[in-house]
Order: sequence, then C-alpha cells, then structure tokens
Amino acid sequence: MNRDEQVALMRQAFAHIDAGTTDLADAVSFNPVSAYTCPQRLARESALLFRKYPLLLGLSNQIPQPGDHFTDDLSGVPILVARGKDGRARAFHNVCRHRGARVAEGCGRQKNFVCPYHGWTYGLEGELRGIPDQRNFPGLDKAAYGLAPLPLAERHGMLWVQPSVGPEGLEIDAQRFLGELDAEFASFGLAGYHHYETREIRRQLNWKLVIDTFLESYHFSVLHRDSVAPLFHPNLCLFKPFGLHLREVLPRRSLESQRGLPESEWDLIPHHTIVYVLFPNTVFVMQVDHVETWRVYPTPGKVDECTMYLDFHVPNPVDSDSARRHWQRNMDLTIRTVCEEDFPASEGMQRGFASGAQTHATYGRNEPALAYFQRTVAQAVGETTPPGDAA
Ligand code: FES
Ligand SMILES: [Fe+2]
Repeated sequence: MNRDEQVALMRQAFAHIDAGTTDLADAVSFNPVSAYTCPQRLARESALLFRKYPLLLGLSNQIPQPGDHFTDDLSGVPILVARGKDGRARAFHNVCRHRGARVAEGCGRQKNFVCPYHGWTYGLEGELRGIPDQRNFPGLDKAAYGLAPLPLAERHGMLWVQPSVGPEGLEIDAQRFLGELDAEFASFGLAGYHHYETREIRRQLNWKLVIDTFLESYHFSVLHRDSVAPLFHPNLCLFKPFGLHLREVLPRRSLESQRGLPESEWDLIPHHTIVYVLFPNTVFVMQVDHVETWRVYPTPGKVDECTMYLDFHVPNPVDSDSARRHWQRNMDLTIRTVCEEDFPASEGMQRGFASGAQTHATYGRNEPALAYFQRTVAQAVGETTPPGDAA
C-alpha cells in the first residue's frame, strides 16, 4: 500500500476515533435468510463461484523449488499444483489419464508423479512419461495423455487457480482480476514470506458466515469482550470496495502511539489489522507481524456445512524452538478466538436462519463491508433479490 494511502487511512481513523464514528453504508440493508439456507442458491454458488473464478490456492512460498507440489480438493475438483523444472507453477486435475486414480496426495517435493494404481508416470509439467507394459496399449499417443491442465496464475507471490477451463483457456489475468488491489498486493512482498502451517477446520455453518464474521467490528466489544476487544477500537472500520473484492481496515488501540508523530513517520501496518475479501472465498488478513488467510469452501450439497483452510505465513523462516513456540501460540490464539467465540455464534445463527423465525438478516449502516460482500455474491450468482433496503 502506498504511503499516501496509508496516511489518508490513518487520518480517517483518527477522525473517527475523535468523533466516535465509523465508515457507514448508505442505508440499513436486508438479506433474505435464504442466502444461507437455500439449496438452489448453494448449487448456483458451487457451480459459478467455485468453478468459474480464480481461487487463491496458496502462496508461492509453498512450492519454492521445482518438484514442489500440493493437492487441494475443497473446491470439489481434485487439483494438483506443481512447480516444473522450468520454475513455472502449473495446475492439473489430480486425475490419472488411465482410469482416473489420484496421482498425488498432500504436499512435498518429487521428480515425477507415479500413479499408485498401475504406475503410469507423469513429469512435473504433467506430461505422461511412462506406461508399465505399454505393449498392451497399442496406438496410444502419450503426448495426448498428459494430466489435464487447469488455469493458473502466479502473481506477487500468490497462486491463483481456476477449477475449470473457461473461454480464456489456461490464462488467468490476475492483474485484471485484482484490479486496483494489484498494486497494493505487490507492495506487501508476499514472495518473501514463509509458510508456517495450514490447518483444516470444518464447521456446521454456511460458508459465507465464516467470511461475514471478519467483516465488522461491531461485535468485538460484546462477543470478544474478554479476548481481542481490548486490542481494537470496537465498532470502527474503514471500508473500501474494490470491484468484486473489498478492504476493511481495523484500527488498533496502539494507534494512539502515533498521534504525536509527524505524518512522515506514521506507520499503518503495526497499528491496524487489514482485512481483504478476495472474491469469492478468501479472507486475507494482513496482521501486524504475519499474513493469515482463511479460504472457505461449502460442503457440496450442504447449506449448513463448510470447510476452511487457515494458513499462516510469517516474515522469517521458523527454524528455532522459540520461533516455533511463538507461532504456535499465535496460531492457537487465533483459532481459539475464532473457533470458540465467532463460530459457535455463527452456528447458532445458521440454526436460527433454518428455524423460520425471520425472513431477513439486517445489516446496520456500521456493517458496510458485510453488506457489500453479501451483495457482491448475490449479484455474481444472479440472485433476483440481492440484499437491499426493502425488508
Ligand atoms: S489409474 Fe493410474 S495407472 Fe491406472
Ligand atoms: Fe469476531
């Protein structure tokens, strides 16, 4: 993020603190609870959002060397991401071209992928290299039997994969997809971060409720009274939409330490948490000292279940016990806050939505990022009643 933007945001934050205000939506808005409970709505989300948009599958630091790879299944498509001998990252269907077995599992570094069923062997660029007892496949053109590729773009240390091949073929224009955020993400130097750990979490709630919980700080002083509330100015956020994506800046109380300093010395990141929604399913959190991503996927066919990856990326290699303890504590605290405070509340909401008690959820003017995210998703799936001002 450039200096001018940082200073402008900090000026806004100080002005809000002094006036006891926050960024506001134009109006209160209302979202039909069917956005969270309707199976047809979920089917459209699965078919469109999780197939036809680039998804953030990870950071480049997870596959730094040729042969490094990982698999990912949560979109519903078995995906293999691997770095080739030429240093390029590629994505494939993790599906053997013989009879469809998975050719890779988990993550690691290897020279090729050997299907565990009959031993067909694929190179790092997806090419079919070997068929045991090949004489029994007369006429088979190996060149036409490589792993089926998927679109992948690597940009600013991020790996974007689209789980289907669209009209653009294997190209993803990540710069265009990120729009104005492209320059902002370039400035974070993500390529220099190190992957610490990824945890998989499954909860009984609609996938969008996971994202909702990051999109307002109205709840901090109540739900998080005894945990993170003392660190933040509750009910204060700076919101900016970026096309499909959005940014929400949450000022920390430590911001007060910057008040007496000349603007040229102001520093945004140590005194704010910066939350992005990278459409459709990633919450990217720039924390004071690390990067955290929450990548959320619905369980196919289940409106009230989702699985997410929580990834921690840290600025320095974790190569000592004390560093490991530090990050372990940090990750445990994050998980405790979200899993023991946010998600139980959200699971209650999911059951409440299903109960028929009300037709709409109501978003206050002080929840502008939340209303924007819900409207963006609704519009992307062609919802006829996107969140609006008519209850
Ligand atoms: S299914 Fe992969 S080698 Fe047979
Ligand atoms: Fe929360």
